[in-house]
Amino acid sequence: MKVKEIIENELKYQQQQLKLIPSENYVSKGVLNAVGSVMINKYAEGQAFKRYYQGNKNMDMLEELCKNLALQTFNLDPDKWAVNVQAVTGSVANLSVYNAILNPQDKILAMSLFHGGHLSHGWKLPNGKKISFSSKVFNSSFYMVSPKDYRFDYDQIEKQAQEEKPALIISGGTAYPRQIDFKRLSEIAKSVGAKYLADIAHEAGLVANGQYDSPFEYADFVTMTTRKTLRGPIGALVFCRKEYEDAIDSSIFPGLQGGPMMNSIAGIATALEEAQTKDFETYIKQVRKNADTLAASLVKRGFNVITGGTDSHLILIDITNKQPNGYVAAEILEAVDIILNKNTIPFDPGSPWRPSGIRLGTPSVTTRGMKEAEMEVIAELIEKTLKEFTADGDIKKFQLKKEINKNRHIFEIKKEVNDLTQKFPIYND
Ligand SMILES: Cc1ncc(COP(=O)(O)O)c(C=O)c1O
Repeated sequence: MKVKEIIENELKYQQQQLKLIPSENYVSKGVLNAVGSVMINKYAEGQAFKRYYQGNKNMDMLEELCKNLALQTFNLDPDKWAVNVQAVTGSVANLSVYNAILNPQDKILAMSLFHGGHLSHGWKLPNGKKISFSSKVFNSSFYMVSPKDYRFDYDQIEKQAQEEKPALIISGGTAYPRQIDFKRLSEIAKSVGAKYLADIAHEAGLVANGQYDSPFEYADFVTMTTRKTLRGPIGALVFCRKEYEDAIDSSIFPGLQGGPMMNSIAGIATALEEAQTKDFETYIKQVRKNADTLAASLVKRGFNVITGGTDSHLILIDITNKQPNGYVAAEILEAVDIILNKNTIPFDPGSPWRPSGIRLGTPSVTTRGMKEAEMEVIAELIEKTLKEFTADGDIKKFQLKKEINKNRHIFEIKKEVNDLTQKFPIYND
C-alpha cells in the first residue's frame, strides 16, 4: 500500500468513527495547511531574531507572532509573562521546566498517574520501578484523590508537601475531571518554598475562554499541549513568569532540542488566531455543555461516572458494573466505531492494560457540530453496545476480536454510529 492510500483511508476512517478520546480533536483546514506549508523547509535554531542560521526573517516574524498570540489568548501581560513555543510535545514542555529550575535528585510532588496525573510528571510504579525519564533524574512522589469523593483533599496534599519539602509541585493530568484548585496549590507550594507548575495540557482551550479556572494568577509555570481542547497541531506552549524567560528558552534549545518545527509553530499560531474568535468561544462553551449532558445521560443509564460528572471536557467511568474491565469495553466499542480509551481509575485494582475504567470526552464530536441531542444518542449507543456483548476480562485481543466479529447486532449498531457521523462531516470540502 502507498502512503497516499493510507492517508486517504485514515480520512475515511476518521469520518465514519465517533471519536470520544478527550485528548484529540480535528484541526481546521487552516491549521492543516500551515502544518503542511513551506515553513517545514527551514532550520531556525535559536530564538526569534537570534538564530544560528541565515535566512530566517520569515521564521522570526512567525515565531514572534505565535508568542504574541499565545500571550493574548490567555490575557497575559507581556511584562510579567513570557512564552516559548518550540517544545515539540507536552512531555518535552514539562521536561523543559525541570531542566530550567531543578537539579538532579531534586524532589517533585505531582498527581499520581492512577489518580489522573501524567507520565511526564516523574511517574514511577508503586513498586518503585522508574518508568519515565523524569523519574530517573528527579526524586518524585505523588498525591492522590480522597477515597471518599475521588477529589483532591488539599489539606492532605499540604501535609504531604510539608513532610516531603519538594522543590516543585505539579498539577494537571489526563483523567481528573474536576476543577483543580490552583490557588490552594500555589499557596501550598509557597509555604514549603517550592515552585508551582500547572500543566493544563487538557484544559487549555477551556481556560482560554473562561470555561475552566485559569492558573495564571497563581502558578510560576504553565505548560500545555496545543492539540487537545485548543484544537491545534501536535506541539506545546511553555509559559513562565518573566524572570524565568531565559532559563526556559535555553532549557529547550540547546538544552533539549535542536531546530524547532516551524511548520508546527505556524499551525499553533493559526490555532491561536482561531481560539480568539467568537466561533471558538461558542465551540468551547458547547464542549462543556456536551460533556455535562453526556455525563448526565450516562449516569441516568447506570454508568458509574467518577465524581458523578465533570467540570471539563472529560468523563471518567468505572466500567466494572457493565463489563469486566476498560480494555474489553473499549475493544467492543471500537468494533462499532466508537473510539475511546481504556483508563485506570483511582485505587484501581486492575493494571494499565486491563484497567477498571474508560475515559471519554467531547472536544472532537463538538468540533463536528454535535450538540446535546447527539450526546443523548451517543450515551444510548454506548449503553446498547455494551449490553450486546461481553467477554472474559483476561481474553486475548485476537480472540476478543474474533468473538465480536461473530455478533450480528454489533454490526447493526456500527451502522447506526456511521449514519450519525455521516451527518457531521469533519471537513466540508
Ligand atoms: C497533562 C498532560 N501533560 C503532558 C502531556 C504530554 O503531552 P505529549 O503527548 O504531547 O507529550 C499530556 C498528554 O496527554 C497530558 O495529558
